[in-house]
Amino acid sequence: MANEDCEGAAARVLLCVCGGIAAYKAVEVLRLLQRAGCTVRVASTEGALRFVGAATWEGLTHEPLATSLFDDATSAIPHIELSGWAEVVLVMPATANVMAKMAMGMADDLVSATLLAVPEATPIVVAPAMNVHMWKAAATQANVSVLMARGARFVMPVSGRLACNDVGEGKLASVECIADAVLAQLGATSCESLAETGREVQEAREAEAGTRMGTLPFSSVVVTAGPTHEAIDPVRYIANRSSGKMGFAIAEEAARRGAEVTLVAGPVSLPTPQGVRRVDVVSAAEMHDATVAAFANSDVAICAAAVADYTPAHPADHKLKKGREQLDAIELVQTADILAELCASKNDGGKRRFVVGFAAETHDLLNNAQAKLERKGCDLIAANDVSRSDSGFGSDTNRVTLLSPAGAEALPTLSKAEVAARLVDRIAKDFVSYVR
Ligand code: PMT
Repeated sequence: MANEDCEGAAARVLLCVCGGIAAYKAVEVLRLLQRAGCTVRVASTEGALRFVGAATWEGLTHEPLATSLFDDATSAIPHIELSGWAEVVLVMPATANVMAKMAMGMADDLVSATLLAVPEATPIVVAPAMNVHMWKAAATQANVSVLMARGARFVMPVSGRLACNDVGEGKLASVECIADAVLAQLGATSCESLAETGREVQEAREAEAGTRMGTLPFSSVVVTAGPTHEAIDPVRYIANRSSGKMGFAIAEEAARRGAEVTLVAGPVSLPTPQGVRRVDVVSAAEMHDATVAAFANSDVAICAAAVADYTPAHPADHKLKKGREQLDAIELVQTADILAELCASKNDGGKRRFVVGFAAETHDLLNNAQAKLERKGCDLIAANDVSRSDSGFGSDTNRVTLLSPAGAEALPTLSKAEVAARLVDRIAKDFVSYVR
């Protein structure tokens, strides 16, 4: 087992298991983390023990299970010892109750006291699961916001049929996503085998949880990303602040799930995600040509690029001299609207293609995005709030609302990787009814 392979150097993960029906999935996450080289210790609430017993945790970790503040065999002061030991803490399935306690700073059992005692520098990953109404309750959402603002990393629940038979948001995210989120906090420094994390987690997925590869209902995707540069003269251009992070994250996520991905990238300095075919372009015209060409062989297009709407009609072949006259002489013409053109041709040749746009808005987000959805004719649009410093151009996080003719799904502020995962989930779901 990886725990022994990396004795003394293994990354230390504390798994806090809470009392929900999804507690059994914590067993799968524990196994994935062990295979990736982590030493995992478990703290369980009393409620969680009703779902998964001590024998399971002790058998898998070879450690006594921590359950109580007072009569625990693990340590004289177990909550301090455990919270100080961990490099990353994972709370799963995070119940409404445990998140409320975390937000309030309550410490009336081992898990809540341990969570309160976690040092500020130690990341806490929270993977909630609960009934849809409990999840959507204002109190729960307020607690989620408080915890996020304090730096907790959330692996958000997904939509689906819940244990109570309700259908909606509240289902635990996939065990692979949760394990990935923990490993992402560790980087690859704690244990040599973590350098192999990607491969090992993939193997673990295939061996134990079944792979997500090939589970998408479409096989080929074209993604646009980054800004475009519109030449004024040989040294000047019109551009915008797009870094390409959002589009690259989408390309990476789709490829990770087995899609054949063509990434049409404007001028950015990001590495090409694994398994992605990248076409570098500079101008809106080049982006147009490369995207239209790739779309012919694609099932899905996702336009995350910030394409210039205007370009100089006659870029100078020499550096323009300073002066009002030169400035006034720059004539701008509209660029081709790539997204609108893809939408107009999406059913050509008897094929049904699914087209997704982004709408970068600084005000009246939903109305403006809804208007773009209708005007351009896309199947789904991500209304992107670019008025916030933690969202939109250049940031590592993003806040979007997914709008389709079926309605709106507001996502909280998430890492761009998480937005990409949620977007691909949503496209996969909508694509099935779209092509039917
Ligand atoms: O790259 P990052 O730093 O990670 O930032 C991400 C982002 C903010 C750029 C991205 O999430 C985003 O919102 N992209 C869309 C930006 C934009 O130009 O939005 P828009 O509202 O102007 O355009 C609407 C849609 O039409 C977009 O899908 C855009 O790609 C598309 N478009 C626009 C003009 C044009 N000539 N052709 C197009 O295809």
